[in-house]
Amino acid sequence: MSQAKRRRVIAGNWKMYKTQADTRAFFSAFLPLVRGARACDIVVAPPFTSIPAAVEASRDSGVAIGGQDVFWEKEGAFTGEISPPMLVEAGCRYVIIGHSERRQFFGETEQTVAKKTKAALVAGLTPIVCVGELLEHREAGRTEEVCERQFLGGPGALTPEEFSRILVAYEPVWAIGTGKTATPEIAAAAHRFLRKCAERKFSAEQARAVRILYGGSVKPDNIQGLMAQEELDGALVGGASLDAKSFASIVNGCEAAQ
Ligand code: PGA
Repeated sequence: MSQAKRRRVIAGNWKMYKTQADTRAFFSAFLPLVRGARACDIVVAPPFTSIPAAVEASRDSGVAIGGQDVFWEKEGAFTGEISPPMLVEAGCRYVIIGHSERRQFFGETEQTVAKKTKAALVAGLTPIVCVGELLEHREAGRTEEVCERQFLGGPGALTPEEFSRILVAYEPVWAIGTGKTATPEIAAAAHRFLRKCAERKFSAEQARAVRILYGGSVKPDNIQGLMAQEELDGALVGGASLDAKSFASIVNGCEAAQ
């Protein structure tokens, strides 16, 4: 497999943290620390209200901005929702879809993930579509079954052309915010399995090309071990993306692992 062709991505998911002022302070500390980064793409996904501040603060830096969720209609009577063209107009290039917190607390399903992903693609956004099992699934030996169901219902419901424009994030729920990272081997096995799902649904070529990020307690001290696995095409980082120094050292750890 020619890993060299898959460019790695380090994406920060800020969740419901950082005001506009916090966002500006983050970028003034962060950008000088990643100035030398060339090998990885960098994405930051702030809360909606901080997106314009992030876009402004990161202008001409090569850092791309993303939303953390999106609705599938362009406009309408959908109180509280944000549409793909609205994210684009605000300066976003990416959007996270189907994060486990959306599934757990806000009723996200495979069907809504697929609808949101298609709508995001129409608007020209790059969706980062998340899948991953709960601890009880892993303990019951159901990891593959759950990942396959989430894959087939979400990314697997796309056309081959649509699928070629998304990123997948494998995020085992038991590793999110818990400090328990999947070992590089556990993560790589899940990535291989997802690639097999992609091969069965689409083609060997598409399976080789799709970028799969790992997420779940990624930190400066484990990034290099994770990136030593060829299967991992980057990371989706929650807690450790909130601090400029720690997120920069994750970016630079990814660079060093190239
Ligand atoms: P974490 O979150 O890095 O804080 O575990 C990852 C995520 O939720 O994307």
